[in-house]
Amino acid sequence: MGVPLFDTSTPLAPLRGELRAAVERVLDSERYILGPEVAAFEREFAAYCGCEHAVGVANGTDAITIALRALGVGPGDEVVVPSFTFYASAEAIPPTGATPVFCDIDPGTYCVTAETVRAALTPRTKAVIAVHLFGNLAPVAEIEALGVPVLEDAAQAAGSRVVAPAHADSAAGGVAKPTSDAVRPGALGAAGTFSFFPSKNLGCFGDGGMITTSDEAVAERARTLRSHGSHDKVTYELLGYNSRLDELQAAILRVQLPHLEGWADGRRQAGRHYEEAGLGELVRLPRAVEGTSPAWHLYVVAHPEVQRLESALADAGIGHKAYYRTPVHRQAAMRQWGAGVELPATDEAARTHLAIPLSPVLTREQVDEVVAAARGV
Ligand SMILES: Cc1ncc(COP(=O)(O)O)c(C=O)c1O
Repeated sequence: MGVPLFDTSTPLAPLRGELRAAVERVLDSERYILGPEVAAFEREFAAYCGCEHAVGVANGTDAITIALRALGVGPGDEVVVPSFTFYASAEAIPPTGATPVFCDIDPGTYCVTAETVRAALTPRTKAVIAVHLFGNLAPVAEIEALGVPVLEDAAQAAGSRVVAPAHADSAAGGVAKPTSDAVRPGALGAAGTFSFFPSKNLGCFGDGGMITTSDEAVAERARTLRSHGSHDKVTYELLGYNSRLDELQAAILRVQLPHLEGWADGRRQAGRHYEEAGLGELVRLPRAVEGTSPAWHLYVVAHPEVQRLESALADAGIGHKAYYRTPVHRQAAMRQWGAGVELPATDEAARTHLAIPLSPVLTREQVDEVVAAARGV
């Protein structure tokens, strides 16, 4: 039969009528940029995340650059970022004038930890980008306990949540911090960023992004930066960007947001199916960060001879993809910041990982088909 790597159309099929109506609503309004749909979606998304403000921008990459600048990052600063992530997590740093400093990950969760971040801190560190990779949630409270603000790159983590209080004081040598009652990515750190690229857990029909924060000053600076550095298009106080979420995308996202929870449960369920079907006897399964419930964006397993797994899946028509075979610090464009950096867990993850099918509607039968193919390795 074959199983696709992901399925974005089946979950949207029942919403087609509502989506068409939303597009019509925007056409009728004749408002296309920063109008009522964006304002409403910003309110609804902030409420969903459990934070005070959401600022819609053009994509998840701009969201990181603008959020860093809104947090005060600039020339001469360093920003710690994992190297095992999508390239944009690091690419977004140099445009602020700051320098990316690469850190390692926990190879079981694929996320940064307080220990891997600590190894990369210097007196010039101004912020840490904690990437919630594949939907897993990096331990934000433990990292902030090191005394640095965290920008959450939550591009892959819409729908994930914290299920147990963070133990900020358990980070060795960390400063105990009151436990926040935030449970959603985007509300766990100083600010968060999201991508609404179509294949994401919450995706629009083009490019889109969001910055979330509960800090009024950070939100206000982000709003100014996304509109050419101006409040009123008359006076220009900052060197900014033309980076706005548009009305059509916001209207489309408003139709989908109420379904995100259900889709996230479907993603969790698919992960449980893989566990119950015995996939863990054949490959290394992803491990949820302690106290979190990931809405898996990608289900990424590891195998020491991953090419054999790739061949077995290909022969059975099972979708699979190695997303980050070359880690970011080894990419040519990052040479000036990546040369000489040694990150053993990152290299190991890059060599052995493989994403296998996952979507909110992946069935137990499809999971069994994937597992049967993996048995052929
Ligand atoms: C972890 C991560 N960060 C940042 C981005 C950038 O988002 P965008 O493609 O919307 O610019 C993406 C997604 O593409 C991502 O997966």
